[in-house]
Amino acid sequence: MCGIVGYIGHREAYPVVLKGLKRLEYRGYDSAGVAIYDGKNIKLSKTKGKVVDLETRVKEEISDVGTLAIGHTRWATHGEPNDVNSHPHYSNSGELVIIHNGIIENYAPLKQELINRGYEFKSDTDTEVLVNLIEDVKKNENVKLGKAVQVALNQVVGAYAIAVFDKNKPDEIVVARLGSPLVIGVGEDEFFIASDASPFIEYTNNAIYLEDEEMAIVRRGKKVKVRKIKDDSLVDPYVQELQLNLEQIEKGGYDHFMLKEIYEQPRAILDTFRGRMLANEGIIRMAGIDDNIEKFLNANRILIVACGTSWHAGLVAEYVFENLTRIPVEVEYASEFRYRNPVITEKDVVIAISQSGETADTMAAIKLAKSKGAFVFGVCNVVGSSISRETHAGAYTHAGPEIGVASTKAFTTQITVLTLIALKLAQKKGTISTSEFHQYLSEMDAIPAKVEKTLTSDNHVKTIANIYKDATNFLYLGRGYNFPVALEGALKLKEISYIHAEGYPAAEMKHGPIALIDEQMPVVVIATRKGHYDKVVSNIQEIKSRKGKIIAVVMQGDKTIKNIADYVIEIPETLELLTPLLTTIPLQLLSYYIAVMRDCNVDQPRNLAKSVTVE
Ligand code: G6P
Repeated sequence: MCGIVGYIGHREAYPVVLKGLKRLEYRGYDSAGVAIYDGKNIKLSKTKGKVVDLETRVKEEISDVGTLAIGHTRWATHGEPNDVNSHPHYSNSGELVIIHNGIIENYAPLKQELINRGYEFKSDTDTEVLVNLIEDVKKNENVKLGKAVQVALNQVVGAYAIAVFDKNKPDEIVVARLGSPLVIGVGEDEFFIASDASPFIEYTNNAIYLEDEEMAIVRRGKKVKVRKIKDDSLVDPYVQELQLNLEQIEKGGYDHFMLKEIYEQPRAILDTFRGRMLANEGIIRMAGIDDNIEKFLNANRILIVACGTSWHAGLVAEYVFENLTRIPVEVEYASEFRYRNPVITEKDVVIAISQSGETADTMAAIKLAKSKGAFVFGVCNVVGSSISRETHAGAYTHAGPEIGVASTKAFTTQITVLTLIALKLAQKKGTISTSEFHQYLSEMDAIPAKVEKTLTSDNHVKTIANIYKDATNFLYLGRGYNFPVALEGALKLKEISYIHAEGYPAAEMKHGPIALIDEQMPVVVIATRKGHYDKVVSNIQEIKSRKGKIIAVVMQGDKTIKNIADYVIEIPETLELLTPLLTTIPLQLLSYYIAVMRDCNVDQPRNLAKSVTVE
């Protein structure tokens, strides 16, 4: 987590870095800071709080002039989010200044050694240890900054993306990465450094993504030099052309990124299957699957690893895969999987799902699975992300940048990709008939328009949100394909509105949650017509007879539930297997409007971060 930005070139650096920090705030927003080299000295300003607070601080405290600057937006790991612990951090001499995303795990012994050598520390951070370690190497070994960074990093255990500069050599920034992302934007006589490409997209489309264990010296007016941290060998940097555009990372007239991203879903789902699924011709083409189809077809089982919302998409996929392909599927939290000594064999296929492609636990699970010989397939949204590069093959969800911390379009596009994969395998295996296959394809083809239609319930959902916005608890129930949607609906609500919410398989309600039901308890029930409908109707009756309030998500034209529920939200008719792509939409809107009405920070909920690159 944490976002890092840097600039070196011919422009005023501070406005570039400030704007970049605002774009990276999704990565953490506990505190922010900037260091600017003004031609003579380093000017540093930092504060607890958000980038807007930093902006005020900079105005009050320092001159913002200079053509080299680095900036940081933090998600606290070591040390509480106060001014002192904010980045950048100086070395003891005040000559070096650093920003860091990640964790230095062995910071305590390193710190003790440095204290023994006379170093003093102002903050509780691991980062201040690193910058002083670099300084110590630089002085003791009488080497340049680049070499000192390299030697220091070889002593470090943990994860990092860093940018550091020396006020005595203000024509270069040294950067390095291990486990946390770092990309260098290459412009005309100028360079940008960032955790992702969004901070520099209006200046250049050319970017170098550093690989793990690589470092680079970014020097004004020179070519970027990339080296391996371990053995010092030079690497020929691959300058990639980015597909991102500015419009994709701006709010485009919406009040929040989350709402924009909810509304982007018809387009995002279409982009995800565009070119891959030719419904009329009955074809699904996906290079990552086509090239490895035997691995999937011969797999003993498919293991899905993921975290958060991506894990919920994995649960939907479990129902879809088993139903269509008859291949056994298990879904695991990556954080549990990596530590529980799981049984993995070469006959297993592991699918890792991650919007950001950077989640530390998912990455560790992938490495573990690979070490046991499993074939690992990635489903990521961020092109070029660490997970997309670590996996043997993969398929991108083409959702476009997702900036709101609460995941929305990533979820529906993950389900889309996974459903396409399952359909392709089922067709190959012959576990569904040709006519079923064609029916699924044509229904999938219609999904973007049906999502669009579902979005027209917006105002109705807003009215329901207004009625229940002060509730202290919510229960979400669903069955089959929509049980994971219930979990996701509950997660969305608690993430952004801070209302306690639980998702449950509808039939499990009587084994516990029913005890919570009274007139204060809103229960969101997903009751699609073919999803064990009668049983869910009985569950609704059980809730009503205990005075609970029912908000039901039903198929268009449903009359039975309309008569018993307090509110119904309709979705268009579709195949049961595809309903999660529609039932999710009103639940996203419900949590969005409740959070707005409760005056919560929808795009940046407290304590959360979009990309969790620490354990
Ligand atoms: C964080 C985000 C969630 C996301 C989860 C997994 O908790 O706030 O929205 O679902 O990480 O992230 P990934 O990028 O791996 O999908």
